[in-house]
Amino acid sequence: MKTIGFIGVGKMATAIISGIDKTKFNILISGRDLTKTEEQARSLKVSSAASHTELVKNSDLVILSVKPQVLPSVMTGLVSTLTRDKTLISIAAGLTLADLKHLSQSENQPIIRIMPNINAQIGKSTSAIVKNEFVNDEDYAVARSIFESVGTVHEVAEKDFSTFTALAGSSPAYIYMFIDALSRAGVLHGIPKETATKIVAETVQASAEMILQSGENPWSLVDKVSSPAGTTVAGVVSLEQNRFVGNVIDAITATIEREKQLN
Ligand SMILES: NC(=O)c1ccc[n+]([C@@H]2O[C@H](COP(=O)([O-])OP(=O)(O)OC[C@H]3O[C@@H](n4cnc5c(N)ncnc54)[C@H](OP(=O)(O)O)[C@@H]3O)[C@@H](O)[C@H]2O)c1
Repeated sequence: MKTIGFIGVGKMATAIISGIDKTKFNILISGRDLTKTEEQARSLKVSSAASHTELVKNSDLVILSVKPQVLPSVMTGLVSTLTRDKTLISIAAGLTLADLKHLSQSENQPIIRIMPNINAQIGKSTSAIVKNEFVNDEDYAVARSIFESVGTVHEVAEKDFSTFTALAGSSPAYIYMFIDALSRAGVLHGIPKETATKIVAETVQASAEMILQSGENPWSLVDKVSSPAGTTVAGVVSLEQNRFVGNVIDAITATIEREKQLN
């Protein structure tokens, strides 16, 4: 049975560990503070390691789940323990395979980069995956299956990771804003906020499901619900006059540019 080690046990690692089938993998965790890590291990029903180096020695795949700004110092402490048979998995936003190779101080370390999103907390992450040439098929399949246990996994070329991060990593915030805006309109017109939010969230969920199930282009669905001289087309035209599509695209472009500035 493969052992999966997590360095850093915050929101994302906790969501992933909660989703993993623990009859298929041994799970080992190592955090910043041993007493806290031991408590987390008890509550997650996994094992804790006394140090990051002990974790690496005892793991087949190591998931680096600390914040991107902490990762370089964590990696520095691991370098002497890293061997060719350990596959490193980073979920850190903005750190490329080349950055991770540099931090591992090895020419041939197997490294996988994965970008999950916040929906991992409810088992519905939309994640991207890319690997370097040193990762074997077995460990790649294991990495995929770990993230498939908390949602879907898309193979994405590394050049597209920033765009994916904007479309799937940051977009939940924009979708929450959209839901809140619709709900607030409901409040303006007399429906209590809590009820309006539930109505809108259910409608957003079902509309997304409709796109996925029907395979139809979203614009053809817009046309289908817009009757001639009807109510919906009045709203559609109002959104267009206020640059709805252009504003959304500008937000995604700003997100991608910001990520590049952080690198
Ligand atoms: N959350 C998301 O939606 C999301 C989405 C995509 C990718 N990610 C990536 O996932 C990674 C983790 O994010 P998160 O949201 O889970 O952050 P988080 O909740 O802040 O978790 C980070 C964890 O790392 C621990 N930590 C700090 N310094 C450490 C050290 N030296 N050694 C070991 N552990 C240490 C922290 O412990 P203390 O709390 O005790 O300091 C904390 O438990 C990040 O790289 C982020 O870019 C997150």
